[in-house]
Amino acid sequence: MLVSPSILSADFANLQRDVEMLNRSAADLIHIDVMDGVFVPNISFGFPVIKAVQKYAAKPLDVHLMIVNPQNYISQVRDCGAEIMNVHQEACVHLDRTVQAIKNAGMKVAVTLNPSTPVMMLEDVIAELDMVLLMSVNPGFGGQKFIPNTINKIGRLKELIEKSGSHAVIEVDGGVNADTGRLLADAGADILVAGNYVFAANDPMKAIETLKAL
Ligand code: DX5
Ligand code: ZN
Repeated sequence: MLVSPSILSADFANLQRDVEMLNRSAADLIHIDVMDGVFVPNISFGFPVIKAVQKYAAKPLDVHLMIVNPQNYISQVRDCGAEIMNVHQEACVHLDRTVQAIKNAGMKVAVTLNPSTPVMMLEDVIAELDMVLLMSVNPGFGGQKFIPNTINKIGRLKELIEKSGSHAVIEVDGGVNADTGRLLADAGADILVAGNYVFAANDPMKAIETLKAL
């Protein structure tokens, strides 16, 4: 299992310390949640903060944009050193064009689906994707409760990926802990995002190892 801890739940007044903890940990990626107050009902942080994280991060950045018009920010995301750029299907009218533009900018491309968006919405673009991010909460806040339907959705997404010959991996985001992580691992998730479970733990490095071992 790969693990991508979300710095949304980090201590923003000690971001360098928390990023350096992730560098020392078993984490595979660092998940970065950008919220614009329009696509989701909350605002998190923007490019200056991502650049500050990049300065200290020794792991690839997994940037999740919960914003409208993500196609307008592709070069800025690349200049922040992102390895993977995640855009929401619901935020992209011309999703194929945006996917191609992200690839042309030299990043891995991921498309994110809200809990209510069926996996079939990706049928005609899945072959182009490096990753699909399934939201297992309605995006906007850390520390929410896992939506169990995500488990069935992973099965449907796996079928779609296999049918199309896509090499896309499956990442899941929201309400992940040791229990929901176990169900997700059994269902076939490749990467788990975890914010609250990691950063509210007494021992965040151990929490990451627990998810890694699922
Ligand atoms: C939700 C964000 C998540 C969030 C996960 O809007 O996209 O990445 O930080 O947080 P937890 O793991 O606390 O649900
Ligand atoms: Zn996220």
